[in-house]
Amino acid sequence: MAPFTTTQPAPPLTPPKRLLCGPGPTNVEPSVLEAMREPMLGHLDPVFHDRMLELVEMLRAVYGAHAGVTLPLQATGMSGMETGIVNLVSPGDVVIVGYAGFFGRRIAEMAARHGAEVIEVTGEWGETVPNEALLEELDRRPEARLVAVVHAETSTGAQHPLEELGAAVRDRDTLLLADCVTSLGGIPLAFDDWGIDFAYSCTQKALGAPPGMSPIAFSPRALERARERAGSVPFSFDIGLLLDYWVERPITYHHTAPILHIYALYQGLRHALEEGLEARWARHEEAGRYLQKQVRDRGFDLLADPDRQLPHLTAVRVPDGIDGPGVQRRLLDEHDIEVGGGLGPDAPAMWRIGLMGPNASVEVADRVLAAFDAVLANEPAPARSG
Ligand SMILES: Cc1ncc(COP(=O)(O)O)c(C=O)c1O
Repeated sequence: MAPFTTTQPAPPLTPPKRLLCGPGPTNVEPSVLEAMREPMLGHLDPVFHDRMLELVEMLRAVYGAHAGVTLPLQATGMSGMETGIVNLVSPGDVVIVGYAGFFGRRIAEMAARHGAEVIEVTGEWGETVPNEALLEELDRRPEARLVAVVHAETSTGAQHPLEELGAAVRDRDTLLLADCVTSLGGIPLAFDDWGIDFAYSCTQKALGAPPGMSPIAFSPRALERARERAGSVPFSFDIGLLLDYWVERPITYHHTAPILHIYALYQGLRHALEEGLEARWARHEEAGRYLQKQVRDRGFDLLADPDRQLPHLTAVRVPDGIDGPGVQRRLLDEHDIEVGGGLGPDAPAMWRIGLMGPNASVEVADRVLAAFDAVLANEPAPARSG
């Protein structure tokens, strides 16, 4: 590419208007985009500090996390994962990770990088690891510091029975870490009631805001363990320092808050609570189940175990003989619709369709289905599975 100059500037940004129905990000809620155009405040402005505390209160409500602490981390979901690990795990600690997909494996890799002895309990793509298998491992290694699972595995569309795991773990010394990146705001989640000790999420899926922050939550006992943890924690992710900034007053500077992203999340949470969490979960449920029925009626198979199928993220197996990425490309080029493909080198061929945030509606599902029908019209019918 030729270097840009004053006479030859870079082209204007002008992104195309897409319907984002992949695994995330989703389209931004219009009122959230509006919020990002509100007047910019400095991060030391007392008005902004009040908004921060209000945001934390809304996050408590959306997580159902009232006993411990919540805040939005100044980075994406991956950093939420890292914050849990670096604050709760010391080198040499045992960490049990149950996974059957890309993101659970990422937790295991990350814990290993931070020096944990990682015990992996795995399942096939589309399944969930049985809680019994995790508890057996925990019986064998009761000293385990953490047991970790992904509540909504975005790489497969499967939902882990998290409530049951929480009930089984809450009386043990081991903490429960849950990846709630694709669950928060889209499906039922009750941090305190289910006995979760640390959770992280994102802004760009069921909350309908742009990517850029990671809402996290600590239970009281997780916070205590973090305070007692041996060794130092990376400055950016130190929960003690983050709380001095987000929650304690007078405020202690930690970083320059991403003000406009905080406005966006503020409005996203406000919108979710105005809608009502149960109504929002029901909307995601209705749209997703409608899409899944329509997809199955067309003769396609879904990847996830039907008993574990998430409502708002559907992984459709690409039938033999159909070029999965080619179909995705045509959906984008000809219909301005983004859907996902398989994630990672060992993922089976799939399309991942997300109906999240403002896109969780039967109307959007119909738009996606109509585009698939048009693109697949010339594909050989026998290639489709029964
Ligand atoms: C289940 C899950 N965990 C973690 C992540 C990582 O989040 P981010 O991409 O916001 O860093 C994702 C991203 O899609 C995800 O779906």
